Amino acid sequence: KLAYLQMRAQNWKPARALGTLRNTMVFATGNAHAQLMLVGEAPGYDEERLQEPFVGRAGQKLNQILAAANLRREDVYISNICKFRPDMGPNQGMSNRAPSDEEIAACLPIILAEIRAIQPACIICLGGTAAKGLLGSGASVASLRGKWFDCQGVPVRVTYHPSYLLRNDTLPAKRAVWEDFLAVLEQMKLNITPRQRRFFLPATS
Ligand code: URA
Repeated sequence: KLAYLQMRAQNWKPARALGTLRNTMVFATGNAHAQLMLVGEAPGYDEERLQEPFVGRAGQKLNQILAAANLRREDVYISNICKFRPDMGPNQGMSNRAPSDEEIAACLPIILAEIRAIQPACIICLGGTAAKGLLGSGASVASLRGKWFDCQGVPVRVTYHPSYLLRNDTLPAKRAVWEDFLAVLEQMKLNITPRQRRFFLPATS
């Protein structure tokens, strides 16, 4: 099913017809039988070059979060709302931009089909763009956090994008993302150690 979807994505006319997305299609990575699915925004410079989601700096941050949760990339399924790097013209260089509402809408059928193929126990939207696509809500991540939503029958949680942590390397920001992951681990009935529960809490004297 995924191989078929990947082929459909490669030739996905609604996205190509926009003329605002770059040519290289970046599909997904990880485990087709995963219980947990992570959905990001769109490939950036590094992801386009290596044709794999979350392999740049945001990907390294994501790997750290997964390691703290005792998960590896191979244990989860990692994909993006938009399968093509949004175009910024001939002088784009290494710059990236978020996909527009039209670009999100054009690619949405692909990620929805991936969800039906994977049938995960839980989905995490990494950032507001993923939430906009899967939940149809343009609300801020801050206001969407801490609640369960539904996408095609699968429970969904929203958290900050890993690149937010790169820009905002503070204890409260790390703790917020970690609380979202703890809620997901609980939902999936995975073991959480007392040490994991305390991660990123201010030290008490
Ligand atoms: N940011 C995303 O949202 N997705 C990627 O694949 C890489 C960076």
